[in-house]
Formats: sequence, structure tokens, C-alpha cells
Amino acid sequence: PNIKPTVFIIFGGTGDLNARKLSPALYNLFLDGWLPDQFAIIGTGRTRLTDEEFRTKLLADLNQFSRNGKARKEDWEKFAPHIFYQVADVKTPAAYEQFSQRIAAFEEDWKVPANVIYYLAVAPEFFPIIATGIAQRHPEDDPTRVRIVIEKPFGHDLESARALNKLLAQHFQECQIYRIDHYLGKETVQNIMAFRFANAIMEPLWNRNSIEHVQISVTEQLGVGERTGYYDNSGALRDMIQNHLLQLLCLVAMDPPVNFTADEVRNRKVDVLRAMRRFKPEDVREAAVRGQYAAGWLEGKKVPGYREEKGANPASNTETFAAVKFFVDNWRWQGVPFYVRTGKRLHRSASIISIQFKDVPHIIFPAETGESWQQNRLIISIQPEMSIRLQVQAKRPGLDMMLNTVDMVFDYQGTYAAEAPEAYETLLLDAMLGDQTLFMRGDQVEEAWDLIMPILNAWQGRPSLSFPNYSADSWGPELAEALIARDGFHWFTLP
Ligand code: BG6
Repeated sequence: PNIKPTVFIIFGGTGDLNARKLSPALYNLFLDGWLPDQFAIIGTGRTRLTDEEFRTKLLADLNQFSRNGKARKEDWEKFAPHIFYQVADVKTPAAYEQFSQRIAAFEEDWKVPANVIYYLAVAPEFFPIIATGIAQRHPEDDPTRVRIVIEKPFGHDLESARALNKLLAQHFQECQIYRIDHYLGKETVQNIMAFRFANAIMEPLWNRNSIEHVQISVTEQLGVGERTGYYDNSGALRDMIQNHLLQLLCLVAMDPPVNFTADEVRNRKVDVLRAMRRFKPEDVREAAVRGQYAAGWLEGKKVPGYREEKGANPASNTETFAAVKFFVDNWRWQGVPFYVRTGKRLHRSASIISIQFKDVPHIIFPAETGESWQQNRLIISIQPEMSIRLQVQAKRPGLDMMLNTVDMVFDYQGTYAAEAPEAYETLLLDAMLGDQTLFMRGDQVEEAWDLIMPILNAWQGRPSLSFPNYSADSWGPELAEALIARDGFHWFTLP
């Protein structure tokens, strides 16, 4: 593609996200020939570092975190000269002045105007000040030239998300603002749209007539670890459901957009969020379950409880597990429950969407044909297994008529030789290309906050007396099973 010469300015250059995700992604894009010939990456932070010191750090990070393993010397030597470091105190105008000078120098060198991507991989309290600082250096700029990428969390609640959107709108046009939800960059997540909208056979079934219920489950073995400083003010509902799980839900529930452009796709997604049934305070107990992990054993290792994690409040009321039953009140989905759950320190790490179809209207086979009649189920497995499975009933080979459930499987590994790119590769490339399809629009973020506010308020206002209420290596609190069992279903897990 034709990508203009680009300067990346990464705030939080010495931080964890840059080390683990951004730099490895840029490096892999470089290796695969996706970066323009003229590009520069300027890391910035409060630590004083020379360009050379910063390069050495990034090389060590790459060697540890890149999906391609250790960097080859000859590749790194071509990449390294594009990397720079600028110490900066983002609270001072001088910082932005320095960036401008650097950008101007590159442009002079390259003899063309450059696109500039400011990437805010910093704590959210810095978003307003940095956004304002940047805007003051690019007052009447061509809006397609300057872009600002904002990491999560986008707001702490509805009010703060609105305030941040408002502040950004004072300085930038929406087409310049790239709000990250890294789940949208995942290969298997993008494929939900391909699967639904490039195949004709699904659409006639994709509604309340055929679908009984939908489950979206993102479970993690990982604990909160060193992130308690952030996590204790967040919790599973904010950290995962407000963004990642609701975005997955939108991809399952959205109507077909008229075309695959950013705003058409995002219009249909925001329609879903707007159609989702709002909870009254008295509904929360019935519709949502929270949990917090206790100490236990996981994969043969003793792991601390959440309240014992480094830096955690020993009486913390923060949930590390959340399950919610949602409804989408529109023609397509009326009456179909969408169960979502997510949690840390669970038995297995797996992100799965399970779509359960209704039962056959009448069973013609005698009862002896199989002990368990199952309904058809479509399973979109996002990670670590990357697959789509359709569960159907089949006759077991033999002289009698015995039925059992079998999977028709499309799996990435067996189908494609190439390794899937990391989500951040896709998203950084899209930001360079100016394609916002896989980024959150301001109204989407606000609708998602609006939807979960009653749950947040109920939980904050009523400390849980049962915490910790699930042990490491379990599937979460018992009430989460009860939430779905009440309706006659079970949480689905892959064998
Ligand atoms: C992040 C959350 O957004 O997503 C983390 O802040 C979580 O708490 C992570 O662990 C999960 O992402 P992935 O890509 O590992 O599924």
C-alpha cells in the first residue's frame, strides 16, 4: 500500500506496552515490508536515555517479545537507525516544541511532509494534557496528517469518558482519533465479520428464530500480578466487559453494514449497544455476578489470592470475575439471552463465543439412539485455539442407529501456513493507513459505559461480603454457573 512517510511518537516509550506490543509490532511490520521507506519512531518518557540506550533496550524487548523470536542482526541493523528517543516532561510546552522540531527535521531530510502518529501508551490521567499539548503544535493542520492513538482505559465511567471525548473533540476531528480496543485487531475477531457477511448460509439462521442463546467467555489463567495499582480501581467489568466483551457481542449481534467502511461498520455496532436493555438498580442482582479469586494452585504453582497480590488493598472490593446476562431489544434478538463472563486465575485461558441453536422441533429417533441429545452449536474460538466449529449430530458407525455429536472444524493452523499477525500489527498499520474500522468511535465507548453503569454503581455501593469467592483453577464463583443454569444452560468450554 501507499503509506506516506510517517513519524511515530510513542508516549510511554520506556513502558511495558511499548516493550511487549508496540515495538515488536512495528518491527514485524518493518520485516514484512509494510512500513514506508521514510519512517521514524520517537520513544518518549521521563527517563533520560540516549538514542543508543533506547535502541539497546528495544532490542532486548524484541528478542523477548517478538512473535518472530530473536531479531536477526542484519534486520535489526536496518531497523535501528529509524529509532530515536526524546526525554520529555509532557506537562511542559517545551516537550511538544521539541517534537515539532524533530518532525520538521525529518521532513526537511525526507523532502516531503510526514504523517504524524502520536501514540498515548501512558496512564489515563495524562491523556488530556498530552492531547492538548499536541493540538497546540498542530493548530490548523490537515486532519488526515496528524493522528492520535489512545490506549485503554478510555474513561473510568460514563462521565469521565464523555469528558475525555469532549476534550478530544475540542482539538481533533473524529477521523484523527484512534481509540484502541486491541481485541478488534485479533485475526479471529476480524474473521467474525468475514464469516457472517461473506457467507450467505448463516444470515437466515442468525436471529431469534433459530438461535437460543449466545455465550461470550474470556477466561484467563493469569492473575493481576503487578498491575494492582491500575486494576484495583478498575475490576473485570471495566477492564474487560466494557470494551473487549461488548465489542465481541456487537460483532455477533450487528446487522450487516452496507459496506466495509469504518463508519458503516461502526454505525451497525453502535446500534447494538443502543438496543441493549438497560438495567434498573434492582435488576443487577439477578443479571450480574461478581467474583474475586482466593489463593490456590494453578498449573502446579501456588498462587496468591487477589487481596494478597503485591500492592493490593487487603480488604479490596474489586471484582476479578464478572458474568452478566444481557438482552438486545431489537427485531433480530428479542428474547435471546447473551451471557458474557470473564475472569482471572481461572482453570484455563480461552476466549470463546458459543452460539447455541434451537432444538429440532420434533425428535423422530427413539430414545435409545443416544444418551445426550445436543443442540447445534457454533463455536468461534478466538484464542488460544483459533477455529470455528459447528457441532452437529451424526450417526455413529455401526449396525444400530446411534447418534452422537461431532464437530465440523475450520482451524487456522490446519488451513493456513502463515502465522497470524499480532493484533497490534494490524492496528498500527490501520492507523498509518487512516482506516478506523477496527477502532472505537466516541459514541460506541459512551454507549458501552452507559450500559454497564448500573452494575458498576450497584457493586460499588454494596461491598461484597463473600469475597474472595472463587479459588484459583476454578471456573469462577458458583453463582456464575447459577446465572446461566437458571435458564437451563451451562457455560460451554472446549474439551
Ligand atoms: C487487557 C486487560 O485489555 O486485556 C488485561 O487490561 C487482560 O487485564 C488483557 O489480561 C487480555 O488480553 P489478551 O490479548 O491477552 O486476551
